Amino acid sequence: MERVDKILASRTDFSRKDAKKLIAQGRVRLNGRLVCAPDEKVDLEADVLQLDGKSLLLQKHLYLMMNKPAGVLSAARDPKQPTVLDLLGEEYRRTGLFPAGRLDKDTEGFVLITDDGEFAHRILSPKRHVPKTYHARIDGPVTDQMVEAFASGVALEDGTLCKPAQLCVLEDGGEPLCQVVLTQGMYHQVKRMFLSCGRRVLWLKRTAIGALPLDKTLGPGQVRKITDKEILLLLGKI
Ligand code: URA
Repeated sequence: MERVDKILASRTDFSRKDAKKLIAQGRVRLNGRLVCAPDEKVDLEADVLQLDGKSLLLQKHLYLMMNKPAGVLSAARDPKQPTVLDLLGEEYRRTGLFPAGRLDKDTEGFVLITDDGEFAHRILSPKRHVPKTYHARIDGPVTDQMVEAFASGVALEDGTLCKPAQLCVLEDGGEPLCQVVLTQGMYHQVKRMFLSCGRRVLWLKRTAIGALPLDKTLGPGQVRKITDKEILLLLGKI
């Protein structure tokens, strides 16, 4: 159980002081009834809290899947450039949200946004080997040697040895579309792996985290909640 003013402040852009005013103005309802005092207690699992008639998401932690568009930073906040958090609608505003893991500014696709640090650590920790799947368009053919090099561990141009990764071709041609599956997440890793094989990445999209694919119905910049079942999939529990 948590105080209503505290929840209002953590789930909206209002401060705790503002929250008290909202309550006094009769703009807050708990299970349909007007809230009278800021210290009324809310059950995060069972209650419905509304501000100006709109329900707030009460669950303790939020897990979101976003299809990040190119040109947006996968950072929490940036003074100059738009970030994935700036794209979130009002219903998903709450303190403590951050993108779990980074995609380059020009990379598209699956970004997991949460306020659950422990969960993020489990998805990102190199020890857990949660695979990340990417689709990449590159500027030349995929050779057998490249597939073998990815499978045995590419040596990057600075000498860093990558863990084994899967590479396969999805669409042949002068600029083939490839699928890459990594179990680690070094800076610019996909681009640097291809570069060390003499190829440039022209376009890159993350299409899955673990066994959870990016929802194909999400357009660029769109976001939706990850279901409880999908959380288990992400954690490799089903
Ligand atoms: N590898 C890259 O090169 N860039 C990304 O954004 C993610 C993986």
